[in-house]
Amino acid sequence: MLFSTTLNVAVCALVAAQGVMASKGNHWKSQDFNGHDNNSWKKEWGVSQWAYPQPHQKSGDNGNLNLVKNPTNSSGQVMQIAYPKGTWNPADSTEIGGVGFYASPLQVPSSASSVSLSYDAYFPNGFQFNKGGKLMGLYGGHSECSGGNNADSCWSTRFMWRQHGAGEVYAYIDKSSQKSNLCKEKGVVCNQQYGYSFGRGSFTWKTGQWNNVKQNIQLNSPGKSDGSLEIFFNGKQVFQISNLVFQSGDWSTIGIDFETFFGGSTSDWASPTNQYAYFNNFVMSYN
Ligand SMILES: *[C@@H]1O[C@H](CO)[C@@H](O)[C@H](O)[C@H]1NC(C)=O
Ligand SMILES: *[C@@H]1O[C@H](CO)[C@@H](O)[C@H](O)[C@H]1NC(C)=O
Repeated sequence: MLFSTTLNVAVCALVAAQGVMASKGNHWKSQDFNGHDNNSWKKEWGVSQWAYPQPHQKSGDNGNLNLVKNPTNSSGQVMQIAYPKGTWNPADSTEIGGVGFYASPLQVPSSASSVSLSYDAYFPNGFQFNKGGKLMGLYGGHSECSGGNNADSCWSTRFMWRQHGAGEVYAYIDKSSQKSNLCKEKGVVCNQQYGYSFGRGSFTWKTGQWNNVKQNIQLNSPGKSDGSLEIFFNGKQVFQISNLVFQSGDWSTIGIDFETFFGGSTSDWASPTNQYAYFNNFVMSYN
């Protein structure tokens, strides 16, 4: 016992100095990007598709994503993401703000019953949230389960910020499979054309400090409405909803839908100024 404790301390010290990207069975984490350049982290993340900005749309290694020193403490390198003034949904605006890619750091088996993602997000003091923006979450089935697309063979559960930093999970799940009274449940906002808002305002993204968020998804069993979603903010459960249907078959791909931008599909959602947000300490796991 004593020996293993000592060993753990030694391993942790090493880890803190170098940053960790490790997957162990059903658990993966990316804590600090120390020792990584702007591209080397992608392998350990299992980046499978780079959506935007494409090299011709924005110069720099990854356009709006750079690894920089942690802006608040000396813990290491973190992701910095740029939202240039006037940018909104990358499909609509002329200049691309934010970043979008898909990553599968873990091979989630079809027998998995739940999957979760957590991370830290930092919006500097004075960050202007405007009407809202997308933040990374999980997806299953196939990519691009978003943007008004049909969710009959995929699902996605991205976090969002809304006005004044109100938080939520913005979900694309098959509308025809959900229980009929879903839109009447507390904390649910429905939109005919787009996704479901779950837990809108159940937490608030604070500026000038790190926010830790986690989404835990209980996958439904085939043919049953027994899926659920839980949202945790700074370690505390702030929202829970049951009887959801995420998948209607055996959809093996489950990964990170890493998308963040202002919007919204109209220019009034645009970033009001040149600004940045920071992200670190990603953990994905399944059971
Ligand atoms: C990533 O690129 C930016 C912009 O060129 C640069 O400032 C930054 O130092 C780079 N980060 C690393 C870890 O090389
Ligand atoms: C230091 O930054 C990390 C994010 O990399 C954050 O999780 C942690 O809370 C910060 N510590 C303090 C004391 O602010």
